[in-house]
Amino acid sequence: MVSDKRSKQKSKYTLDRQIPGAFEGETVTRRRFMTGTAHTAGAIAASAFALPALGFAIGPIFKSTPAHWEPVGPEGMFSDTNYVPVVMTVAPSIGEAGKTTVYVRKFNPEIDTDPYDKDTPYIAISSRCAHLGCPVRWVDAAERFICPCHGGVYDLLGRRVGGPPVRPLDRFYTRIKAGSVEVGPRFSVNSELRRFSPRDPGEPVDGIGQYLYPSRPGAQKL
Ligand code: FES
Repeated sequence: MVSDKRSKQKSKYTLDRQIPGAFEGETVTRRRFMTGTAHTAGAIAASAFALPALGFAIGPIFKSTPAHWEPVGPEGMFSDTNYVPVVMTVAPSIGEAGKTTVYVRKFNPEIDTDPYDKDTPYIAISSRCAHLGCPVRWVDAAERFICPCHGGVYDLLGRRVGGPPVRPLDRFYTRIKAGSVEVGPRFSVNSELRRFSPRDPGEPVDGIGQYLYPSRPGAQKL
């Protein structure tokens, strides 16, 4: 009975299994061996390209950088009726290119009636246009932020009032430390000035836009 069972077991030798091209004593045909080797070499070559690209793409998701706060001037330097432009560093690792202009004024309960503004002592508005990122300029006489590139116009609160921008100007968190105004991380706002994690220029955050354009890792900076 036992010997009958054994005889039914498949032999490990290719010759016994009558595989074409088999040689005596082989357990794997040379054709199968070469095919396996070629596939393994192909897989190693493909991963040499794919793994670094994958790591580069998803690495920033797992990298948490501490919030960057920068003093931009003493409290007395800012009024609650007009903006003062200050230059701050948003990406220290790239030198001058990592600096940006931010328009800062004191919180004014008569202008800043939006409930989202209540916890920020100063209003800090980004000069990066929400259309394609050109630097906007505050024009005091018109009480408007104006973009020179495609005619984007924003009101006193940074809300779009004309041109192609898809959302209001981004803002920055602010705080007071030892009598100095500090500007912190960037955030985006929708047309009701509701806060969102920072988006790139051209990405709307109203309605379905907030889901279609999720925040990119690193969008905090430039
Ligand atoms: S970049 Fe500002 S309107 Fe186009």
